[in-house]
Formats: sequence, C-alpha cells, structure tokens
Amino acid sequence: MNVTDFEMIAQLLKTRSGLALSKDKAYLIESRLNPVARKWNFAGFDELAQAIRAGKDEALLVDVTEAMTTNESFFFRDQKPFDQFNELVLPHMLEHRAAKKTIRIWSAACSSGQEPYTLAMLLKENASKLAGWKVEIVATDLSQEILDKAKEGLYSQFEVQRGLPINLLVKYFKQTGDRWQIDAEIRKMVKFQQFNLLTNPSALGRFDVVFCRNVLIYFDPPTKTEVLGKLADLLADDGFLYLGGAETVLGMSDRFQLMPGQRGIYRLMSEDKAKATG
Ligand SMILES: C[S@@+](CC[C@H](N)C(=O)[O-])C[C@H]1O[C@@H](n2cnc3c(N)ncnc32)[C@H](O)[C@@H]1O
Repeated sequence: MNVTDFEMIAQLLKTRSGLALSKDKAYLIESRLNPVARKWNFAGFDELAQAIRAGKDEALLVDVTEAMTTNESFFFRDQKPFDQFNELVLPHMLEHRAAKKTIRIWSAACSSGQEPYTLAMLLKENASKLAGWKVEIVATDLSQEILDKAKEGLYSQFEVQRGLPINLLVKYFKQTGDRWQIDAEIRKMVKFQQFNLLTNPSALGRFDVVFCRNVLIYFDPPTKTEVLGKLADLLADDGFLYLGGAETVLGMSDRFQLMPGQRGIYRLMSEDKAKATG
C-alpha cells in the first residue's frame, strides 16, 4: 500500500470510528481489508482503495470501517470489574436508588454482547434484592453486524470457555449444535442499539453506571478527551464509570477521578457534581 492510500484510509477510519492508526499498523489495513475487497469483488487492494477514495458507496465505507474495528470480548472480562459491581456498585445503587427503584446501565462498546450479558447474569443472580426494581441495560456499538451477533446470543465453545463460570453456563445457556445460546430471559434484559461514540449521546438518557471498556485505547488523546466528556455529561452525579485495564482518564479528562482504592472505576469530580445539581 502506498503512503497516499494509507493516509486516505487512516483519515476515513479516524473520522468514522475514532480509530487512530499509526504508520506501523499499515499492515493491519491490508490484512483486514483484503476480505472486504473479495466480498465486493474487487480485483485487489488497489481497486478497493480507489472505490474508497471515490466515497460513493456508503455500504462499502461501513464495511471498511467495521472490518477495521477489534471486536475481541469475553464474559467476565478481567473478573475484578464484575466483583466490584457486585460488592460495591450494586449495594450503592440499592441504597441510593431505593426511592426510585430504577437503575440504568450502559455498555458503551458492547461488541458481541459478553459484557452486557455478564451484567444481566449478575443482576439475575441478585434477583431477590432487586424484586420490584426496574433495571435497564442499554448496550451499544458502532457495528450493526456485531450487534446482530450479540442479539442472537449464540457463542462457540471457545467463547463460553473464556471467563464464564461453569455453573452460569449450565444455568443460563442451552446447547444448540456445537454452539451455546444464552437464555431468552437474559437476552430480554439487554436493549441493543447502534451508536457511535463520536456522536451526541444525549438521546440515550442518563445512566447510573457506564461500562466503556477496551475501546478508548483505539482513539487518539483528543478523541479520548471528547468521548470522556460525553460520558461525564450523561453519568448520574453519584454514578460509576468503568474503563478497561489499559485505559485511564489521567491526562485525558479532569472530569473524572479514580475511585480511591479501586482500579478501573471512576466517579465524577466534585465540580462536575456541583454543576449537575446546580
Ligand atoms: C475490543 S471491543 C470491547 C468490547 C467490550 N467492551 C469488552 O471490553 O470486552 C471494542 C468495540 O468497540 C467498538 N467501537 C469502535 N469504535 C467505536 C465507536 N466510535 N463507537 C462505538 N463503538 C465503537 C467496536 O465495534 C468493538 O465492538
């Protein structure tokens, strides 16, 4: 691939998804876009690059953008965030939302669904404490294709072996052929919706808990700052923000602070809370 094509495609990805690709990752473009070239019956990468440059076919640009995203995910990813959810976040919400009996959770880059379904299973496990409560899990992703997979809730043996405790596999999944489908009851607890983190999230409403894990790593610093600002705008003033293990707000946003003694969970800075409460 020549430098001009690299720059043209990198710019497209940056604008459409926030993905920041440095030149040393140029090889990724070819390896991930060759299947797109085949799907669209282009003679090769150069022809694909020409069609991207022409920019006439929206469906092609969507395919290119989606092919470049990393959808890696697994149940109970990193375990600790979900222990913290059980031990800290849920008890906080049970106490502080006792009057409204409503909790809203956002899985902001949910990929194939393992993250929101992990939360749904945890909530189901706590069903007795949540009797009479309305708990909403909104799960969004840029990619419609990955959301379609998430909605189906069908996972390979490999996917259910990564992180999912065997008792929860037995309790909440049914084997269909060589795959496992999560029960309709759990699927119903999650509302999937296409959403690009680069756009305005205000229509999604306010959230008590936001999981935005393992997506900011792909963005450049100004984009991280912008997205963190949007998350701050819609987080309840006593809400919780989860980032991935390799992500931080440090140097990116002064609107969040790390929760003392807890890795990966952030709360709004007090100035932000003051603004929110007027
Ligand atoms: C590595 S997965 C993370 C999945 C899950 N949060 C986890 O931690 O396991 C990253 C996801 O971010 C999505 N993504 C990338 N750019 C996005 C954007 N601008 N808006 C929304 N989702 C985006 C990708 O489609 C992909 O499914």
